[in-house]
Amino acid sequence: MNMLATQEPRLRDFWYCLFPMHELSDAPRAFRLLGQDIVVWRDEDGRPHAVIDRCPHRSARLSGGTVEEGRIVCPYHGWAFRGDGRCVSVPQSVTNAGPQFGVKALHCTERYGQVWVCPGEPAFDLPHVPHFEKPGYRQIFEFSEDWACSAQRIIENEFDTAHFSFVHKGSFGDSDPAPARTDITETETGFVAELHFAVRNPEDMRDALQMHDDNTVRNVISRFIMPFYQIAEINYPNGLTNVLVTWLTPVDDGTTRFNQFVMRNDREEDVPASQVRAFDRRITSEDRQVLELTDPMVPLDTSEGVEIHMASDKPGLIMRRRMREFLHGGKKA
Ligand code: FES
Ligand code: CO
Repeated sequence: MNMLATQEPRLRDFWYCLFPMHELSDAPRAFRLLGQDIVVWRDEDGRPHAVIDRCPHRSARLSGGTVEEGRIVCPYHGWAFRGDGRCVSVPQSVTNAGPQFGVKALHCTERYGQVWVCPGEPAFDLPHVPHFEKPGYRQIFEFSEDWACSAQRIIENEFDTAHFSFVHKGSFGDSDPAPARTDITETETGFVAELHFAVRNPEDMRDALQMHDDNTVRNVISRFIMPFYQIAEINYPNGLTNVLVTWLTPVDDGTTRFNQFVMRNDREEDVPASQVRAFDRRITSEDRQVLELTDPMVPLDTSEGVEIHMASDKPGLIMRRRMREFLHGGKKA
């Protein structure tokens, strides 16, 4: 069976978002990415760096060490490594320091106030969020947390309109289970989906959302970007644009780091960030509860009959095909 596993070598050739920069203190921080333990720290200029979390000397975890003068220092015998992985200090012997004593460094950068790592060689640039540069938009960090399910399941769910009236019946879900019409245009790195659908405004949240009617129509332009990213621009009739930016990072086969922030064209005085976060917390908790019940192994080859599909699964089936093509083919998916 052709299942998507995090050990798939080509998955290493994407950029992955780990967590917001503001979560990176002066200490090194461990992270598990695609089943591999890495460590992240920031140098004196505030730039993030990432290397394998294993000292080449006696295999201690570097994440248990310290950061000194921008270098990561092993807790065991004090070897110090630069951001490019090179060992620049062996306190016991000056002759030992040098490139041959290095640790493997990973591509690492900051974007959107977040730490990004590519453990292989990037096949694509980092995903582009156009609203990030647009005047009049504010950024609200929402979540960076681990869910016990696969990234592929979460990203498919983001484009699955058929679950609203079940999973979200207590919040925005309309009672009509017929899924919204979705128009899909494929792009080089994924697709753009356009949807129009009515949502219920949860009574206890109408003030927070500045939505005073029972229902609103959402016009959604939602981008899927490989491998597990979504930029969903939700346009409301009152002129509000709320952009959900979701980066899903596979920790391992059964765990995903759920990173989400919002870009909005209103002000803190209109709707405080805490209320935006509270609303999205409620929705994502509903999703999380059911997603953690799904099998983390996703059959990529949809012809094998492991799962039965319905019309609303089309976006997910396109994602699986694109992933298949990427894994087996070249750069162009
Ligand atoms: Fe890291 Fe010895 S184990 S310096
Ligand atoms: Co949902």
